[in-house]
Amino acid sequence: MKDPTFLKTMVKRVGARRVLEIGTFDGTSAIAMAETLPDDGTLITCEINPGFVALARKRLSRSPHGHKIDVRVGPALETLPSLAGWFDLIFVDADTKNYVQYYRRGLELLAPAGALLLDNTRGMTLGAVDPAADPAIAAIQELRQLVTADRTITADLVPVRDGVLVVTKQPLA
Ligand SMILES: C[S@@+](CC[C@H](N)C(=O)[O-])C[C@H]1O[C@@H](n2cnc3c(N)ncnc32)[C@H](O)[C@@H]1O
Repeated sequence: MKDPTFLKTMVKRVGARRVLEIGTFDGTSAIAMAETLPDDGTLITCEINPGFVALARKRLSRSPHGHKIDVRVGPALETLPSLAGWFDLIFVDADTKNYVQYYRRGLELLAPAGALLLDNTRGMTLGAVDPAADPAIAAIQELRQLVTADRTITADLVPVRDGVLVVTKQPLA
């Protein structure tokens, strides 16, 4: 289990009331973020695996903050079009090969003062890889090209978890 302290800090830092997560697993990070949300805060979390959804829902039912969390079952790329903005915090922690699509849709759903977090992005610091040999790292590197070229956002790779890319809609200059 990864330490959720950074996620809780980010919920506080952006004053989040509405959070979106992609990749629920057993609900650990969702519950941690919900603990920091205000009483009327809400969190939608997307999970493809029905077994993990059942596990997460069981854990939510035992948490005093579980009522804030809505677990959506299915591939996130099918769930995301049905969601409407804004979200103050978006946490992406699922299948890396789809990160570019999660990033693009995440920016559409992100509140102007919000933050989009993409976990497992340490691979951005590696040299070029063969996409056929390592599609996950290649997807992360495609993401790096996108964020580097985009002057409308600020992106910082933070050395927590497996490298979290923090994207905001506030350009540096
Ligand atoms: C690393 S785990 C998430 C861990 C969780 N965020 C935490 O920190 O407690 C990644 C999860 O993403 C789910 N996942 C993978 N591909 C997905 C997809 N296309 N749509 C939704 N969920 C997906 C996996 O089933 C897995 O449960």
